[in-house]
Parts: sequence; structure tokens; C-alpha cells
Amino acid sequence: MTDSAKTAAVRAAVSLLITGVAIVGAMVILGPAAYLWIKAAHVVAIISWMAGMLYLPRLFIYHCDAPKGSEQSETFKVMEGRLLRIIINPAMVLSWVLGLWLAWTMGYFSSGWFNAKLVCATLLSGVHGYFAGAVRRFSEDRNTVTARQWRMWNEVPTVLMILIVVLVIVRPF
Ligand code: HEM
Repeated sequence: MTDSAKTAAVRAAVSLLITGVAIVGAMVILGPAAYLWIKAAHVVAIISWMAGMLYLPRLFIYHCDAPKGSEQSETFKVMEGRLLRIIINPAMVLSWVLGLWLAWTMGYFSSGWFNAKLVCATLLSGVHGYFAGAVRRFSEDRNTVTARQWRMWNEVPTVLMILIVVLVIVRPF
């Protein structure tokens, strides 16, 4: 395992631990109100995750236009790496842990809308993984995706976000 993979694994474990302690603490201190507090925390985590998932491909578009080895290109590498590690990765872990706890508490696993939401959230996590790989390739000056293609990728998280919000709020089935 590389050093950055180890750091990512440690960060994920720490976020999980903090989330677990916060959930148990909320249940003990708040009782039945814990559900709404945890739902609020879920929405905050989702906003952070989506902000990063919408901004990262925009950085890739600008990065494509920066000549390899230029100061601009090196600055984009730092911005992309920090956005991924400090915001996007922990926000995704939190969104999943809190969301699954909410679903388990309410018994949503047998609902159609929730299973459709799970499929969309899984696709979004796959896109997240692809973007994380792109951050690594950009950092090694090995990106082969064009700015035009990144513009198209930029729309994928947007479409998934709209579907997920409609599914969870309208619950059409
Ligand atoms: C990562 C996996 C996810 C899981 C397991 C999950 C699960 C849940 C659950 C069970 C609820 C509570 C629903 C209720 O009681 O009304 C909820 C609320 C919510 N989720 Fe997620 N969610 C996930 C990801 C997302 C994503 C990616 C978005 C948006 C892009 C999102 C947006 C929301 C919103 C806006 C609410 C509040 C809905 C309301 O109060 O009416 N979730 N989520």
C-alpha cells in the first residue's frame, strides 16, 4: 500500500469512528430527536460532497489548458488533491454512514424510492472513485481526458443529484 493510500485509509477510519461516536452520543443525549439531528448532519455532509463533486471536474477543465510543468499546473494539483482529501472523501464517508443509519432506523430498505436512491448514490460513489483516479493521474501528468470530455463528466454528478433529491423528497414509488 502506498503512503497516500495509507493516509486515506487512516482518514476514512477516523471519520467513521467520529461519526459512530457522534451517532451514539446523539441517541443517548437527544433520544427520539436524534433522527432529525442526524438527518440534518446527513444533508450538511451531502452539500459538502456535492460541492466538491461539482467543483473538481471544473478544476480538471482548467487544468487541461495549463501546460505540463507550469506553475499554474502545479497549483491545480495542490487544489485538486486538497479538495479530494479534505472535503470530498470525508463528506462521502459521512453521507453513507449517516444515510444508512437513517434508512436502518426507519426500515426503508424495502421501499422502491429508497432502493432507487441507493442505486444512484452507488453510481455517484463510482464517479467519485473515477475522479479520485483522475486527481492521481493529473498529479503524475498522465491525464489523457480532454477539456471537452471533462465538461461532459461535469454534468454526471448534477444529473444524479437531481434524481436523488426527487427520489428522497417526492418518493414517486
Ligand atoms: C450515500 C448514500 C445515501 C444514503 C444511504 C441516504 C439515505 C437517506 C435517508 C434514509 C434519508 C432520510 C429520509 C427521510 O426520513 O425522510 C435521507 C435524507 C436525505 N437525503 Fe440521503 N442518502 C444518501 C445520499 C444522498 C445524496 C447523494 C443526496 C443528494 C445529492 C441525498 C439527499 C438527501 C436529502 C435532501 C434528504 C432529506 C430529505 C427530507 O428530509 O425530506 N442523500 N437520505
